[in-house]
Amino acid sequence: MKQTVQTRTRYAGPITEARTHPHSLVEQGFATDEALAAMLDRYPAELFDINLYDYDDEGQVSLRTGARGRLGGAELLAAIQQGRLWVNLREVEAGWPELWAAAMAEFGKVQAAYPGMRAVKNAGQLILSSPKARVPYHFDAAGVVLFHMRGRKRIFVYPGDEAHLAEVDMEQVVSRQTTEELPYTRAFEADAQVMDLEPGQALTWPIYAPHRVENLDRFCVSLSMDFQTWPSRFRNGALYTNAVLRSRGGRPRMTDGMATPELAARWAASLALKRAGALKSRIAHFERDFEPQVGAADGAGALRA
Ligand SMILES: [Fe+2]
Repeated sequence: MKQTVQTRTRYAGPITEARTHPHSLVEQGFATDEALAAMLDRYPAELFDINLYDYDDEGQVSLRTGARGRLGGAELLAAIQQGRLWVNLREVEAGWPELWAAAMAEFGKVQAAYPGMRAVKNAGQLILSSPKARVPYHFDAAGVVLFHMRGRKRIFVYPGDEAHLAEVDMEQVVSRQTTEELPYTRAFEADAQVMDLEPGQALTWPIYAPHRVENLDRFCVSLSMDFQTWPSRFRNGALYTNAVLRSRGGRPRMTDGMATPELAARWAASLALKRAGALKSRIAHFERDFEPQVGAADGAGALRA
């Protein structure tokens, strides 16, 4: 399927630009200090990602990672609120089923706004982030609905074309040969769609569109729900297969030029290649650099044995 209209995405799906939708997760009480502290107390430690991002003058990022540590829920919440941390709680569907059920009901309403869109798999990450936290330029190999629940954040969404998101880089991410940070230059800013999100707004954008986030001086809580459709599955599978071919010296055709039958065939090939272990994930297990501490610089205290 060739794209005939000018579009901000290489994905020919029903979401053509970033757009907000209302949601009711805040009224339902999921974003209060009490609810969050209680959740942090019981959330499984292995589902925490705690990151601290630093940027140079060119906007290039470096990352430190934190261990869950031993703070109680209320203290951990205070460390995030006072610090510069970005805390991602994976698998909300398992970790906080009540929130997940409410969010899936809201997702149904968002999806209904895009005729022809049908998610076949949804997953969620609850993100608690410090007032000055910023998430670097990246893309998700999935559709995303970002349910914003507390604080204010500014989202920058960029065109998902070859200039801003090269297929070769997509292949590397989809085949887990790198983390999801992409080549970025300040020149991209001229092409960004910029939106400020308030609690009660859910933002979605074209599948694969690169984006980054800046918190606007408030502690922020958002549920990031990602979803796959059959077209995104086919495309991800084709990207994976292309990554394998490229690793073997091949020069695969770009998936942008493939119609559905070819994408589906490459997706099917990717299942066999994954079963055969064709590409080993190169994402290292990070050594942890710190653990959260109330009152420490950036909320990052020394690791304790
Ligand atoms: Fe993202």
